[in-house]
Amino acid sequence: MNDLLTIALSKGRIFRETLPLLAQAGIEPVDDPETSRKLILDTSQESVKLVIIRAADVPTYVEYGAADLGVAGKDVLMEHGGSGLYEPLDLGIAKCRLMVAGPETTPRTVRRLRIATKYVNSTRQFYANRQEQVEIIKLYGSMELAPIVGLADRIVDVVDTGNTLKANGLVPLEHIADISSRLVVNKAAMKMKHERITRFIADLKAACNA
Ligand code: ATP
Ligand code: PRP
Repeated sequence: MNDLLTIALSKGRIFRETLPLLAQAGIEPVDDPETSRKLILDTSQESVKLVIIRAADVPTYVEYGAADLGVAGKDVLMEHGGSGLYEPLDLGIAKCRLMVAGPETTPRTVRRLRIATKYVNSTRQFYANRQEQVEIIKLYGSMELAPIVGLADRIVDVVDTGNTLKANGLVPLEHIADISSRLVVNKAAMKMKHERITRFIADLKAACNA
C-alpha cells in the first residue's frame, strides 16, 4: 500500500504535456482520458494510478491527500494559495503569462475599473499591491468576451501566443506572472512514502532535463 502512487492530472493541455515526461519515467496510462469515461486510470506500473480531475481542483485533491502528487499550473497554485503543498519541481510545460488585458484605450470613468477573471485572489492581490481600488467580477471562462459586451473594462487571464486577445480586439496591458506547470506533493505522503516519491521526482526531473 505504501508503494501505491496516485497522481492528479487534468485532461487536455496538462495531460498531453505531462505524458511524455511520465513516459520517460516509465509510466504510460492504459486508457486515454479524452475517450475513456474512467476517472482513475491504470498505468503500465501497477503501483501508479492517474486521477483525472479539473485543473483548478488539483491542489485541493493533493492538499487533502486524495492524491499523493499532482500537476498544476502556477496560475492555479497562486489562486489556491496557502502553504499546504510541496512544490518541488517546475516541469517547464504549459508555459504562458498571467496578464491584465483590455481594449487599447479605456474611456475615462469616475467609477472603479471592473476586472473580469477566474483568478479572483491573484487579481485582488495584484491591485492591492498597487493600492488601486477595482471591482472584480468572477467568471469561469471566455473572459475575453467581457470587455466586448461591456461587462468589464479589463480582464485577467493567461496569455500564450496572444491570438485569443487579438481575435477579440484586446491587447495585453500588464504582466502579473510567468506561468508554467509544477509538480505538487502532499505533505504527509512525502513523509510516509519518502523513498518512492523522492525517486519519482528524480525520474521526472531527469525527464525534464532530457
Ligand atoms: P478547465 O478546462 O477545467 O476549465 P483550464 O481551462 O484552466 O481548466 P487548461 O486550458 O487545460 O485548463 O489549462 C491548464 C493550465 O495550462 C492552466 O492552468 C495554465 O497554467 C496553462 N495554460 C492555459 N492556457 C494556456 C495556453 N494558451 N498556453 C499555454 N499554457 C496554458
Ligand atoms: C486559454 C486562455 C486564453 C488562451 C490564451 O484558453 O484562457 O483564452 O488560452 O492563449 P493564446 O494567447 O495562445 O491565444 P484555452 O485555450 O485553454 O481554453 P479554455 O481556458 O477556455 O479551456
